Amino acid sequence: MDQFNPVTQQIVTQLERIAGAEHVLTSSFDIEPYTHDETEDLQYTPEAVVKPRATEQISEIMRLCSAGRVPVTPRGGGTGLSGGALPVRGGVVLSLERMNGILEIDTKNFMAVCEPGVITQNLHEAAEALGLFYPPDPASRASCTLGGNLAECAGGPRTLKYGVTRDYVRGLEAVLPNGDIINTGGKLLKNVTGYDLTQLLIGSEGTLAVITKIIVRLIPLPRLRRTLLAPFSSLDHATAALNAIFMNRIFPCAAEFMERDAIQNAVRMLDRPFPCSDAHALLLLELDGDDETVIQADIERAGQACLDGGASDVLVAESPAKQEQLWSVRRAMGEAVKKHSAYREEDTVVPRAMLPELVRAIKDVAARHGIRTICYGHAGDGNIHCNIVKSALSEQEWKTKLPGAVTELHKIVVAMGGTLSGEHGIGCLQNNHLPLAVGRAELELMKGIKKVFDPLGILNPGKVFPDNDVV
Ligand code: LAC
Ligand code: ZN
Repeated sequence: MDQFNPVTQQIVTQLERIAGAEHVLTSSFDIEPYTHDETEDLQYTPEAVVKPRATEQISEIMRLCSAGRVPVTPRGGGTGLSGGALPVRGGVVLSLERMNGILEIDTKNFMAVCEPGVITQNLHEAAEALGLFYPPDPASRASCTLGGNLAECAGGPRTLKYGVTRDYVRGLEAVLPNGDIINTGGKLLKNVTGYDLTQLLIGSEGTLAVITKIIVRLIPLPRLRRTLLAPFSSLDHATAALNAIFMNRIFPCAAEFMERDAIQNAVRMLDRPFPCSDAHALLLLELDGDDETVIQADIERAGQACLDGGASDVLVAESPAKQEQLWSVRRAMGEAVKKHSAYREEDTVVPRAMLPELVRAIKDVAARHGIRTICYGHAGDGNIHCNIVKSALSEQEWKTKLPGAVTELHKIVVAMGGTLSGEHGIGCLQNNHLPLAVGRAELELMKGIKKVFDPLGILNPGKVFPDNDVV
């Protein structure tokens, strides 16, 4: 028996009254952009899309949908990679795109107050113009939103030195499924006042509440930045060199790993040259700081560690333009894999020092199952995006080989002390594998939390929990 009801004409009329008729979409043409995100192969069609402009409107929408038992799926920029914003049970997609104001940058307290639909890069630029810094930098930063970043606890290359989204969020306003508006935290660097609801909502993939206002802390913008590119003749050499860099007590703000296929796909897609693009593997390191002498000494030591570890060369980009050339290719890798072939992305993460074992294990699993993988990612965080690509496999071979390979990879990652997703979330892509990484007692606690926030289960159903674990 289905616990949900369809979106009736009466509900559409109410949504139009709340948000304005022009902000409610029901035709299949208008709705199409909301049926997918960046996750390969997933498509779900909502019955209506509503684009509210204010918290009070969201509160009314949630009350309406609670009363009608209609599923609601919050959505940010639609750049997610685990289907978190997709309406798997139909109902209403609640797009936060119009709530895109940076309400305040408080230069005395180093805090920003933002609406959830702010494009992440817009916050970067607004903060940097004032000499401040919001570090989380997912590759999709030019089109993803802060609300989506919070929902999935997005990371990005700078996680290594600066942490992930949750490390910056200090307070929230949010709307519960029953329409109640809650406020958590504040412009506070310290706060031990009851359970930390702010942190509970971050990474909850839009299943507990709709985030409507966000307070993030900012830090001073480092003045200097140096980017280093080192080509290696094998994946093993590259990952071992990275461990050597850490053992030398060099602490980059980013340490990215890319294998040759990942680089060459991106270079082809962008139609732009990239140094050493025929190397088996590349490390892309970035150091930042304020002291010219220190950063120069560190970049030299990092370069030497790469050469000692077998790098055939070390290139240093000092100008912002040259640095951007390197980073734009790195940021395009996800899209380039998508263009290259049907694929399945695994957001594997292990304790950082296990990186060489992780990369070897990925290649072993691939060889055993007769599949190809294209790997790149945040090596300094132990977080590798392992893209299993269909390439020359027939549809039948792909369907047969993929599930076994994915399950085996997950088991190996968990056995290494790692887990299923470092920064893309579980959503409706990995939910049935959750028990491989989360124990029964822990899963029951999570289900209990979901029930307290959302007793009717109308908020973003079909996510996080395995399909047969009815919440
Ligand atoms: C990246 C995205 C896929 O690192 O997380 O490019
Ligand atoms: Zn990433």
